Amino acid sequence: MTYKSVKGTRDLLPADTSAWLHVEHVIRTVMEEFRYGEIRTPVFEETAVFARGIGEETDIVGKEMYTFEDKGGSSLTLRPEMTAPVIRSFIQHSMGEQTQLNKLYYIGPMFRQERPQAGRFRQFHQFGFESIGQDNPACDAEIIAMAAEIFRRLGIHFTLKINSVGDPVCRPRYREALQEFLRDVHDELSPDSQRRTETNPMRVLDSKNTRDRELTADAPVIIDYLTDECREHFERTLAYLDELGISYEVDPRLVRGLDYYTKTAFEFVSTDLGSQDALGGGGRYDGLVEQLGGKPTPAVGFAAGIERMLIVMEKNGYDFPASEPAVYIVGMDDESRQWAFMKAMELRRAGIPTEIDYAARSVKAQMREANKLGARFVVLAGDSEMQDAAAQVKDMREGTQESVEFDRLASYFSGLGIHKDNTETR
Ligand code: HAM
Repeated sequence: MTYKSVKGTRDLLPADTSAWLHVEHVIRTVMEEFRYGEIRTPVFEETAVFARGIGEETDIVGKEMYTFEDKGGSSLTLRPEMTAPVIRSFIQHSMGEQTQLNKLYYIGPMFRQERPQAGRFRQFHQFGFESIGQDNPACDAEIIAMAAEIFRRLGIHFTLKINSVGDPVCRPRYREALQEFLRDVHDELSPDSQRRTETNPMRVLDSKNTRDRELTADAPVIIDYLTDECREHFERTLAYLDELGISYEVDPRLVRGLDYYTKTAFEFVSTDLGSQDALGGGGRYDGLVEQLGGKPTPAVGFAAGIERMLIVMEKNGYDFPASEPAVYIVGMDDESRQWAFMKAMELRRAGIPTEIDYAARSVKAQMREANKLGARFVVLAGDSEMQDAAAQVKDMREGTQESVEFDRLASYFSGLGIHKDNTETR
């Protein structure tokens, strides 16, 4: 009997994780520049956090959550997204009382029981950020600009689609107009869209069904129903994007799959992805804090799928930084193997990534291994070198070789600038 990872989940092996670490490093760098702080919440929450936060009528809550009862009888859910948990935490820790604007980011696994396909997993990973406390359109633009900046640094080309989904004043008026339109074509709509006409009519515009799309081609659009306040917010957000030189397409049919959005809603899509073409999406959610029991607090945020970003990067031949040993110390006999082991420890402590052989292989096999791993330098110490306490250092890139005293090896390599940052912990 052997076991496999569960459908829709996967193992990331060292060859994969080096790319992930690079993406995470770029994300963290940009987050530091924009002064966002990382938040880490538990991977599961009380089910109500998501049911109330994301909306009972959404696909996520209705069909896709990993919900289970624990032994104490509580209903818990593996997080399908992070906005609701972040807001739960924001309220729990009274973050709104400490500063006018909380700027938070996260990176981590999410869980949705969707049908797995290219770019769609049941455990996937998001990075995202939430700007909580201000209704300034500059915050909407900043969130979009940050996402665009991260994509730019990772060589990911995208199209930005943006819309305003209004607020609790304009949406009911629009909803009514849309429902009236949809009821006229009711019998021809797909069963899902027929149901949504009554429960969540804006999602009908998002239907993937071709006939649904034809039937709704002339449906009323929300832009025509926005209140002056929502319209102005939208226009000012777009004006910021114009000034920042971030191009976008206004897509009046864009609705997102989560119910908490108000005003700005946007999505980054890529033609390098298949049918699951959304790299990430987000928007403003001015009602969510109150919905989850806090004081009314405006907020805007975004999240992207890291697997999808990596698909695009790999397709584009992105040049990921390699993770190669700087030094490979070849052991020749018992004595020099023992020496290699101790010297490797010393070099590693000095921040120099060093590899040795653990399988008592021949010198030839070790040289082959050093080559395969892409070691920049190979250190050899045979009988006479042991006697002289000076090793032969071979530069594998230049093809040169020189003798370096044992005691000087660490400073020799450090001097070449190949050591990694390693903060002293004495
Ligand atoms: P979302 O659109 O549901 O938004 O997810 C954001 C991104 O997560 C998607 O665009 C996609 O790249 C990725 N994603 C979603 N489901 C899967 C899956 N099954 N497999 C692989 N990738 C997936 C949210 O989650 C909101 N919380 C975003 C947000 C933050 N809005 C405001 N703040």
